[in-house]
Amino acid sequence: MPDLPLAEAPARTASAAGGEILSVANLEAWYGESHILHGINFSVNAGEVVTLLGRNGAGKTTTLKSIMGIIGKRSGSIRFNAQEMIRTSSDRIARAGIAFCPEERGIFSSLDVRENLLLPPVVRQGGLSLDQIFDLFPNLKERLKSQGTKLSGGEQQMLAIARILRTGASFLMLDEPTEGLAPVIIQQIGHTIARLKKEGFTILLVEQNFRWASTVADRYYVVEHGKIIDGFANSELQANMEKLHAYLGV
Ligand SMILES: Nc1ncnc2c1ncn2[C@@H]1O[C@H](COP(=O)(O)OP(=O)(O)OP(=O)(O)O)[C@@H](O)[C@H]1O
Ligand SMILES: [Mg+2]
Repeated sequence: MPDLPLAEAPARTASAAGGEILSVANLEAWYGESHILHGINFSVNAGEVVTLLGRNGAGKTTTLKSIMGIIGKRSGSIRFNAQEMIRTSSDRIARAGIAFCPEERGIFSSLDVRENLLLPPVVRQGGLSLDQIFDLFPNLKERLKSQGTKLSGGEQQMLAIARILRTGASFLMLDEPTEGLAPVIIQQIGHTIARLKKEGFTILLVEQNFRWASTVADRYYVVEHGKIIDGFANSELQANMEKLHAYLGV
């Protein structure tokens, strides 16, 4: 069956030309007194899936939180759609079209699937309708009245992604979406990401599982001690495998 068009998405189609949509330069970030990011530099083109790789504690999540504006202190430059965001509040960043799906997923256990889905406010045009979301995630439709606590890990992850698709965001940041999930679910999430890319979403992933990431990613960056130390295209993955094993200690 051919994919249904998910939405008339002016924000997405307008930027799907492939130009640079996010440009991060000399990004530094702190939690209180702890200086965590020491000059992050990378960019994402519209319509790409870009994956941040790196060891535990390297600063991957902190990079996503800094882009979303949910960190105590940051400096440097974060340009989104040619607009400087380094001093922009998180709600304005959301309204510009950036969404963050945290590693811990943030599903409200006392709310059911529908209530969880409807919780984040729609911030711009181009968001998916509930029908379009159920087309992408048929399991969620079956579980509509189930409480957050009753969902499997895979269902929670899908709900966490589904929730941000309603808001109208076109730039999705997903932090370790496959963590702790069974292989068959991981594969499904891969299909979902591929479908979202096809629909014009731009995706910035954090992922430990680079073999899985290679099924969806266009490019990679490696984060170490709060800096980007390397970057390469998916087509160069094999050639970089030895280096990558050394970077990741796997
Ligand atoms: N809320 C916080 N307060 C203080 N330090 C923090 C906080 N969150 C993270 N850190 C520290 O910041 C550093 C980077 O953490 P971050 O969560 O960005 O790493 P990560 O690359 O996402 O790692 P992981 O693969 O384990 O998720 C780590 O040393 C971590 O201990
Ligand atoms: Mg992390």
